[in-house]
Amino acid sequence: MAIPETLNTPHLDLRHFTIEDAPEVAELAGDVQIAAGVLNIPHPYTIDDAKEWIEQHPYLRERGEAYIFAVTERGSTRVAGATSLRVDAEHAHAELGYWIGRPFQGRGYATEAAGSILELGFLGLGLHRIYARHLAWNDRSGRVLIRIGMTHEGVMRGHASKWGIFHDVHWYSIMDDEYFSLIMPGAESHEQHFRDGM
Ligand SMILES: CC(C)(COP(=O)(O)OP(=O)(O)OC[C@H]1O[C@@H](n2cnc3c(N)ncnc32)[C@H](O)[C@@H]1OP(=O)(O)O)[C@@H](O)C(=O)NCCC(=O)NCCS
Repeated sequence: MAIPETLNTPHLDLRHFTIEDAPEVAELAGDVQIAAGVLNIPHPYTIDDAKEWIEQHPYLRERGEAYIFAVTERGSTRVAGATSLRVDAEHAHAELGYWIGRPFQGRGYATEAAGSILELGFLGLGLHRIYARHLAWNDRSGRVLIRIGMTHEGVMRGHASKWGIFHDVHWYSIMDDEYFSLIMPGAESHEQHFRDGM
């Protein structure tokens, strides 16, 4: 499967960000609730911060280092959130990340978007493992990860510093064979999945 430009789920279209999205990104990601949950989002977050971030995406994508998508509601061009896969090709693994703007939360969007990123990672990129992590207080994010089939691996104590406070970090992952068993129970391997027709 070639790397698609857009990913589609029942309620969402995931597409590349464009520079025109910067004001919406700054408004949504500028919410302190988003910055609190995502380690590398600064606060306050300006339109220039958003432009700088979006400008990196083609380079990262072309090098196969990261695939970053705008989450939009079906039929809308407006940004509702973001989701990403940061790849370490040497180990065939990648880190899943996401945020959903506050007006769009509680509708299943993070779960749908993250599920779609797993499909990209395992079917599109042939990864072996996809992992994710959240700060200890962020149970809500943990429940998204469990809903998409990840397993809680453990906790790294005091692993991350956010705004001068150290946080325990919870790690989750899903392996390729686990993913294929989830989407096609009975299939033993990636190869069988393709042989039998997705
Ligand atoms: C954590 C975060 C990504 C969750 O986004 P979200 O889109 O609200 O997540 P979902 O809608 O998929 O799940 C949230 C709840 O909505 C519920 N829900 C409501 N309608 C739903 C529907 N139609 N389908 C599925 N779930 C639905 C889910 O069951 C879930 O309930 P729970 O929290 O009790 O488990 C979002 O709060 C966020 O961006 N937070 C700040 C940034 C952040 O923490 N990012 C993660 C860093 S690790």
